[in-house]
Amino acid sequence: MLDITKIRADFPILNREVHGKPLVYFDNGATSQTPQVVIDTIVDYYTTYNANIHRGVHTLSQEATDKYEEARLKVQKHFNAKKAYEIILTAGTTHSINIVASGFAALLKEGDEVIVSALEHHSNIVPWQMLCEKTGAVLKVIPMDEQGALRMDVFHELLNPKTKLVFCNHVSNALGTINPIEELIHAAHKFGAYVLIDGAQACPHIKPDVQALDVDFYVASAHKMCGPTGVGMLYGKEELLNMLPPYQGGGEMIETVTFEKTTYAGLPHKFEAGTPNICGGIAFGAAIDYMNEVGFEGIAAQETALLDYGTKALEEIDGLTIYGTSHKTSVISFNIEGIHPYDIGAILDKLGVAVRTGHHCAQPIMDFFGIPGTVRASFSFYNTTEEIDVLVAAVKKAKMMLS
Ligand code: ALA
Repeated sequence: MLDITKIRADFPILNREVHGKPLVYFDNGATSQTPQVVIDTIVDYYTTYNANIHRGVHTLSQEATDKYEEARLKVQKHFNAKKAYEIILTAGTTHSINIVASGFAALLKEGDEVIVSALEHHSNIVPWQMLCEKTGAVLKVIPMDEQGALRMDVFHELLNPKTKLVFCNHVSNALGTINPIEELIHAAHKFGAYVLIDGAQACPHIKPDVQALDVDFYVASAHKMCGPTGVGMLYGKEELLNMLPPYQGGGEMIETVTFEKTTYAGLPHKFEAGTPNICGGIAFGAAIDYMNEVGFEGIAAQETALLDYGTKALEEIDGLTIYGTSHKTSVISFNIEGIHPYDIGAILDKLGVAVRTGHHCAQPIMDFFGIPGTVRASFSFYNTTEEIDVLVAAVKKAKMMLS
C-alpha cells in the first residue's frame, strides 16, 4: 500500500482551503494535481535554460533540446513504443486525435466505414464526424448497455471489409468504464482496420504497453497524469505515421523549402510544426517519472479501495443512482432523484468539495440514460477515505437543502 500521508505532502495544493473548508479534490478526471517535483521542473526551466529547441547552437538552446528529447524518451519508455520518433509531443489528447483524423481525410473514400464507441468524449467523436463529412465515409456506433459497458457483440457485427478505422477510449471519462480494447484491436485488425485508442482517462490509472496491445495509435494528455496542461502525446506505428500527411505546415516540420516545392522532415518533426510547449514537454517527462516512482500497482490498489469505499457509502443515500457499474476505474458518476447535478455541485463547492457536474463532454452517454448530466467524483491515488466521508456528508447535506 502507498504511504498516502507522504504522497499528499508532495502536492502543495492539497493543503489549501476553499470557502474556509479544507479542499477535497475529486475532479481528477478533468485534471490531476501537480506534485512539487513537476512544479520545480517548470521553475527550473524558466529560471535556468529557457530557450527555443532544435535551432540554436548556444548552450541554453542545446540544454533545452536535450531535456525535451529526454522527455520524449521517457514517454517512449513509459508507453513502450519501439522507437522514440513514434512519439509525437502534442498539445494534448484533442490535438493528437485531430492529427490522425485530419491525416486520414486524405486517405479515406466515399463508402468507407469508421466505427466509434457510444462511450466517447466529444473529442473522439467530432473530429471523425468532420472526417466523414470531408470524405463521404460512414460513421457507425458501438452501442452501450445499462451498466455502461460496450456491446461488443454488436461491434463484431459492425466490422466488415469496408471498416477502415475504429476509435474508442481506453476508459470512459463520464462513467469510468474500462473498455476491452485488446479484443477490439484484435478484431479490427482481422478486417485490416486501424485502431486509435484515447487513453486520456486511462493513463492516470493504468500503464499501457502499446506494443503488447498492438494498437495503431494511442493518445493521452499530461495534465491528467500529474503533469501540466497544454501538452500530450500521440503514439503511432512508424509506418502509419509515415503514411499520414502532416497536420500543420510551418517551421521545424520541413526538410527543404522552395517556392516550387517543400519536402517534409522525418518523424517526429513532421507533426511538430512551430515552437512546441517546451517546458510542458519537459515537465511531462518529470510527471511520468513521478508516477512511476509512486508505482502503478500501488496507484491501482489505492484507487480501487477508494472506489469500493465511495460506492458503498454513496449507494446508501436514498434516491441516489450511480451511472456506470461495469468494470471501471475510480470514477463515480451519480444523480439524486429530482435534483439537478449542477445544484449539488454548487453546494459541494461551498463545502470545499470539488467535483465535475454536467454532461462531461459526453452528451450521447447522457442521452442514453435520459439525463441532463451527472455529478462526477473522480478519485486519484492521493485521495483518502476520510475525504470520501466529507463528500458523502456534503451530498447528504445538499440533498437535504435541495429536496
Ligand atoms: N475530459 C475531461 C473531463 O472528463 C476534461 O473532465
